[in-house]
Amino acid sequence: MDAQPGTYGYTRAACTILTHLVCTIFTILITVLSRPGSSLFSWHPFLMTLAFSFFMTEAILVFSPHGSPFRMFPHKSKGRLHWVLQCLGLACAALGFVAIVYNKHLAGKAHFTSWHGLTGLVTVCVVGIQCLAAVSLIYPSLVKGWSLAKLKRYHAAAGLLTYLLGGGSLFLAQLRVVHGLRGGAGLVPYSALPGAEQPGHHEPSLQRLHGKETLAVLTVSMQPYKYGSNQ
Ligand code: HEM
Repeated sequence: MDAQPGTYGYTRAACTILTHLVCTIFTILITVLSRPGSSLFSWHPFLMTLAFSFFMTEAILVFSPHGSPFRMFPHKSKGRLHWVLQCLGLACAALGFVAIVYNKHLAGKAHFTSWHGLTGLVTVCVVGIQCLAAVSLIYPSLVKGWSLAKLKRYHAAAGLLTYLLGGGSLFLAQLRVVHGLRGGAGLVPYSALPGAEQPGHHEPSLQRLHGKETLAVLTVSMQPYKYGSNQ
């Protein structure tokens, strides 16, 4: 019986370390595949993954009593590190959002026409509101009639929802992988995704491939998750 808390502690530490690893490796993978700077679009997957998979995950794990490199730090320092990482995440998410909206504007495409685009828009708005509301934790006197404990409870609950939304948007962005493996258009580079066209490049994006870009990226046709698609 004595061993139980130890086993429980080790399991939690192992899960936390695994989460650090998975999120960091996923961010590195998307960075390599999207080649940030190679086009305006390339900044979108890179910055969004950096924001939601890396910064926001690390910001939450700062408070983990198991497997966090900062677990020995006083709670105040962890709080500070948490909001610095969240601010970095917010900045990346905002820049990633601007990159895709501007890219679509330059390419003359309609906005928010896919499930990914729509959930992405909601996610970015919710993240903005969540960060704004979090200012009340640093200056509790701003919110009259709410105790700090109550504010913290609401912040944690809303934060969980926000993180789930971010994860959902990332998941929807990767869904085309599944479509590809099931016999979709095949593996294509991010730059060839419908919606990722470069301004001035008007031919259908998948036709641009023709074996030129061999770095096959884990993405295929966007069609299955446009609204109304029955695929
Ligand atoms: C949580 C992370 C993400 C969020 C919040 C997000 C958000 C968005 C938003 C709001 C749009 C719509 C822009 C518009 O219509 O003007 C969009 C479009 C797009 N995103 Fe993301 N994105 C995320 C991650 C990714 C990733 C990792 C990829 C790469 C696989 C990706 C690929 C695309 C593509 C190809 C489009 C254009 C097509 C469309 O509108 O659906 N996104 N994203």
